[in-house]
Amino acid sequence: MTHLDDRTMTSSGFYVSQEAPIVSDNPVPTPQAPAPDILRCAYMELIVTDLAASRQFYVDILGLYVTEEDDEVIYLRSTEEFIHHNLILRKGELAAVRAFSYRVRAPEDLDKAVAFYDELGCRVERRQEGFTKGIGDSVRVEDPLGFPYEFFHQSEHVERMSWRYDLHIPGELVRLDHFNQITPDVPRAVKYMQDLGFRVTEDIQDDEGTVYAAWMRRKPTVHDTAMTGGDGPRMHHVCFATHEKHNILAICDKLGALRRSDSIERGPGRHGVSNAFYLYLRDPDGHRVEVYTQDYYTGDPDNPVVTWDVHDNQRRDWWGNPVVPSWYTDGSLVLDLDGNPQPVIERTDNSEMAVTVGADGFSYTREGDQDGTYQGEAAKGFKLGHQL
Ligand SMILES: [Fe+2]
Repeated sequence: MTHLDDRTMTSSGFYVSQEAPIVSDNPVPTPQAPAPDILRCAYMELIVTDLAASRQFYVDILGLYVTEEDDEVIYLRSTEEFIHHNLILRKGELAAVRAFSYRVRAPEDLDKAVAFYDELGCRVERRQEGFTKGIGDSVRVEDPLGFPYEFFHQSEHVERMSWRYDLHIPGELVRLDHFNQITPDVPRAVKYMQDLGFRVTEDIQDDEGTVYAAWMRRKPTVHDTAMTGGDGPRMHHVCFATHEKHNILAICDKLGALRRSDSIERGPGRHGVSNAFYLYLRDPDGHRVEVYTQDYYTGDPDNPVVTWDVHDNQRRDWWGNPVVPSWYTDGSLVLDLDGNPQPVIERTDNSEMAVTVGADGFSYTREGDQDGTYQGEAAKGFKLGHQL
């Protein structure tokens, strides 16, 4: 459910509004306790089944820097990072996500995180010594959506590698940019995240008010995390930023040269949502990794919220290239605080894939012109025809 008033069509073909046009009819209660002051998404902890294969993918191919490693776990960071890590690869039996971790502004924010989630009735665990190497006092929770969220402030500082051009590669990953989570009820997720202090920057809806996805930020970019409608809780992807588009093309060239092109799931391309240039990869366990560059500044309090029509064929790819089915259907399991996989709950709202492709779906390039650009009825708006 949502309200579609007070929005303005832009010359680019999407709507803008001042307040996120998303309302939940099944909200998570708003705690009385104030939310912790979250700075940014900081790291993801992944369980991988073959540590050597994952190391080859993330270190040898993608060039992330190893902060520390042993036979069980590898701590990795991006070029500009000064905290201990942005990605943990931990060896385990079941490929999954163990933590989505956010950095908070001050140590006191951890007390706030405990009170916030206690009030929501969530399972909360705090460890003064941290849950991982390099990170101090931390709070981990099973959040109301079933995701393992972590909050910390203290981190060991390590060298920022920005000036080490002697080590940089053509596809250099410079920052952790965002997470993307799959959840059945996007409006419910958005309301909870707004209570946690996040602000919506973009969303995808239809005329009936079904919300298919929403992007939310703390740092002044398009997002720190996004909620994608689907069977969940699952992890859709973790995303690293490059400085330029050519860095993303270099990653594609390298994967081709290594006969690893099957790691490329989707792209490269230009997103409609976020305006960023993108590439989606799958790691050896199938965990999805996005490489992304050149979204836009969102830090003003009156930053316009962008709403895309789910039938707009340029929302997911500005050039109109189709989204492969696996991108809609696949995701990584997430773990509870005991390390067991969270049960996956089916989405009951319409699926984005079903309403945009196939017999029951449609997409347009120009609104009101649902027969496609030059291939007529057969193309259903997809210039490449019937792949989907
Ligand atoms: Fe993304």
